[in-house]
Amino acid sequence: MSKTTDYLVKPGGKLTGRVRVPGDKSISHRAVMLGSLAQGTTRITGLLEGEDVLGTLGAFRAMGVAMDGPNHGALAIHGAGLRGLTTPTKPLDMGNSGTAMRLMAGILAGQQFDSELIGDESLNKRPMERVAEPLRRMGAVITTAAGGRPPLKIKGGQTLRGIEYPMPVASAQVKSCLLLAGLYAEGDTIVSEPAPTRDHTERMLRGFGYPVLTRDARISLRGGGKLVACEIDVPADISSAAFFLVGASIAPGSDLMLEHVGINPTRTGVLRILTSMGANLELMNKREVGGEPVADIRVRAARLRGIRIPEEQVPLAIDEFPALFIAAACAEGETVLTGAQELRVKESDRIAVMAQGLRRLGIYAAETPDGIVIQGGRFRGGAVDSHGDHRAAMAFALAGPRAAGTVTVSDCKNVSTSFPGFVELAARAGLSINIE
Ligand code: S3P
Repeated sequence: MSKTTDYLVKPGGKLTGRVRVPGDKSISHRAVMLGSLAQGTTRITGLLEGEDVLGTLGAFRAMGVAMDGPNHGALAIHGAGLRGLTTPTKPLDMGNSGTAMRLMAGILAGQQFDSELIGDESLNKRPMERVAEPLRRMGAVITTAAGGRPPLKIKGGQTLRGIEYPMPVASAQVKSCLLLAGLYAEGDTIVSEPAPTRDHTERMLRGFGYPVLTRDARISLRGGGKLVACEIDVPADISSAAFFLVGASIAPGSDLMLEHVGINPTRTGVLRILTSMGANLELMNKREVGGEPVADIRVRAARLRGIRIPEEQVPLAIDEFPALFIAAACAEGETVLTGAQELRVKESDRIAVMAQGLRRLGIYAAETPDGIVIQGGRFRGGAVDSHGDHRAAMAFALAGPRAAGTVTVSDCKNVSTSFPGFVELAARAGLSINIE
């Protein structure tokens, strides 16, 4: 495999037809985790076969869980039960995935064996004390490397106790980590969130027959129950669809149908933000699959205007800002984002990486500590660096059709963590994209 992958995107073109982007990453991780901890065989369809989820799957295989697949999104997991995992013989490699590392920390804190979680260069820079500290309060024995970074070393054989934890940051990963540890804890684990975050863990636990109580901003469960295998149909990932929502909004003449997209209200900030920018989005055929709402989304090109993004939408669109910044660059007037300091600790510092790339393409973009100010303008062609961030890479690629010259995006290899087949799918929809 080549060390770097660069995209070359030619100007012009429009996005048309029907596309189904791969399965939701958040739901896929959770399906593999809960299926592994359940009693009986869980059958999953629509699973994201991206590197991040394959890493989670590999970790459970390394702890003795038998699985058939994945094959075209189908996976059968023969669950080991909550107490049936076996000692892994080497550190569990979570690759690029913060979700995997943080959620696994919660599960591993409750096991009888010692374990170690490692990651790639990007993950090794990301904060882990946000899960280690509350897990310790529950009785876990867990160490991080200098600065609270990975690797995480977790000592097994501890007795966990439920805690009441007001989360300092609105993080679904922290919430999910603690709820998963709570499965192994004595008594109630109660997490309260400062703002709503994605609730896939709560929904899926209920789908596996585990009672979870949500009252206002407090989510709680009682340890000592069991998970019963079920069937899961993973919807297409709205975070992957976001690149096409933006791409089709800004490329003149576009008319694209995105099929079977998850529209869980804790994930649809991108739809609300784009709509207030003037995007033409139509949700059709709304339905529910396995406890998650789904729709087909028709998107047609539209004139966008800059807005001040409401802070309460930030956690609900947290992964979609790279794409939204491209929309802002094509909008009339100024877009202002505040309250989004979390973007600085994602797969890259997404405020810095996107601001740098936008400026390279001739757009005014000013960083602030917790956000960005972008003036709509015209993209010129040029070379931008995704800094190994999958979402930055895809966002810059979708700027191509609106640019005056060719856009090259470097370091795009990690796109396969969340969106295998991105280039082929984007090309089929009408993007002039090639891999260099
Ligand atoms: C995720 C939660 C979000 C998001 C990440 C996936 C999850 O992180 O950015 O890509 O699956 O729980 P935070 O909850 O830490 O903001």
